[in-house]
Amino acid sequence: MKPSVAVVLAAGMGTRMKSKIPKVLHNIAGLPMIKHIINILKKTGVQDIILIVGYKGDLVEKVVGEDCRIVYQKEQLGTGHALLQALPELQRYSEGDCLVLCGDTPLLTDETLIELKERHHVTEAHATILTAELPDPLGYGRIIKGQQGIEKIVEEKDANPEEKAVKEINTGTYCFKIESLIKNLNRLTAANAQGEYYLTDVIKYLVDDNKCVETLLLKDYKEAMGINNRVQLAETNLLFRQRIVEQHMLAGVTIIDPTSVYIDSRVEIGIDTVLYPGVILEGKTTIGENCVIGPDTRIVDSSVADDVTINNSYLLEAQVGNACKIGPYSYLRPGTELAEGVKVGDFVEVKKSYVGEGSKIPHLSYVGDSKIGKGVNIGAGTITCNYDGTHKHPTIIGDGAFVGSNTNLVAPIKVGEGAYIGAGSTVTKDIPSGALAVARGRQKNIDDWINHKK
Ligand code: UD1
Ligand code: CA
Repeated sequence: MKPSVAVVLAAGMGTRMKSKIPKVLHNIAGLPMIKHIINILKKTGVQDIILIVGYKGDLVEKVVGEDCRIVYQKEQLGTGHALLQALPELQRYSEGDCLVLCGDTPLLTDETLIELKERHHVTEAHATILTAELPDPLGYGRIIKGQQGIEKIVEEKDANPEEKAVKEINTGTYCFKIESLIKNLNRLTAANAQGEYYLTDVIKYLVDDNKCVETLLLKDYKEAMGINNRVQLAETNLLFRQRIVEQHMLAGVTIIDPTSVYIDSRVEIGIDTVLYPGVILEGKTTIGENCVIGPDTRIVDSSVADDVTINNSYLLEAQVGNACKIGPYSYLRPGTELAEGVKVGDFVEVKKSYVGEGSKIPHLSYVGDSKIGKGVNIGAGTITCNYDGTHKHPTIIGDGAFVGSNTNLVAPIKVGEGAYIGAGSTVTKDIPSGALAVARGRQKNIDDWINHKK
């Protein structure tokens, strides 16, 4: 197979984003948009990706430097000028294809890119342009066709009224024969309305030289939607999100109200899981099979096993075992690990703790820096006092222990297996296995007190 390389143009400042970070680092479905472009390129089988960066390029390099070769374009003198910066890199390939695309069109699919390459090969074209028919083509380069097919691409600012009326536009995605691209990049001049080096002039040169240039019209023009401002960022996110939600539904997930569920691109969900309205699944999250999640639940960078119920809760970097029941109003913080069949109920916060199989923390508790065994019952209102103002200390609770309601466990502390703690205790000393600890003021009843008071 001939080598194939892709160049992604991402040096533009993205002025209309009004942002301190480069446009291509803004998120779509939980990933910087440039990552989506790189992902589809990888699926297309491209061997090398060259990324042209400019404005705050070092930030972009940090995010995708491992996936791409980074080339800096110090001054943004146009799309042709951007590609010229990659010339030394491109000259390493004597034959093969070069895909060129923009870093701000994350709705593009790998299917489309593969179709573009196929069309390019079948027709043996020197360049194949991905085009779209837009209801409102304002601002885009127009595809000007004659009897023999495409003649040139004319930018909005250079177009006459007749050309402006053309609805077929250049999406900014192309497949070139590398040698034809290299040869014609060297011919570019900035003699146009914007004084820029237009990559699109390469097309005109090829046509003038009687080389075959093809176009591929997008079936769904929305794939070519570029992002220039935050309104378009939101619109693109919406479309992207719809796609993700549909993919999950087609793969066996029930989503009761697809318009109110947000699922990031890296999330995995097992079959027969049901998502109620208001579910937000973010980052690197996996949900198992046959779970019921929501309503109003946010899960970030967490893993949830099978048959789990989570209602009105927030999970951040937590691991949840099979058949756990969580919520309503639970908060599982980083480092929480629940074994199988654990219950974490209403208004319970768990941080950096392991909770063993079948244990229950049903109501109003804080559990931090703890290791809780199997079959433990933590009564309502129990608090692990893990922080002494300077350091965090561990609480260890053995299998089968029973912690009475409203217990304070002053850490570091160990509660032995099967031990009992009387309700309302403030426990400061370790409790042996099987012992009962009561640590509260004794109750005194003063008989007939009401009459004495009078
Ligand atoms: C370009 C095309 C136009 C097409 C449109 C699709 C040219 C001359 N025109 O328009 O036909 O309809 O894309 O969106 O190519 N960039 C750089 N360095 C630069 C200039 C741009 O890296 O010096 C990058 C931008 O970051 C962006 C992409 O190239 O990712 C397109 O730039 P943009 O200015 O949006 O496109 P236009 O030149 O307006
Ligand atoms: Ca421009």
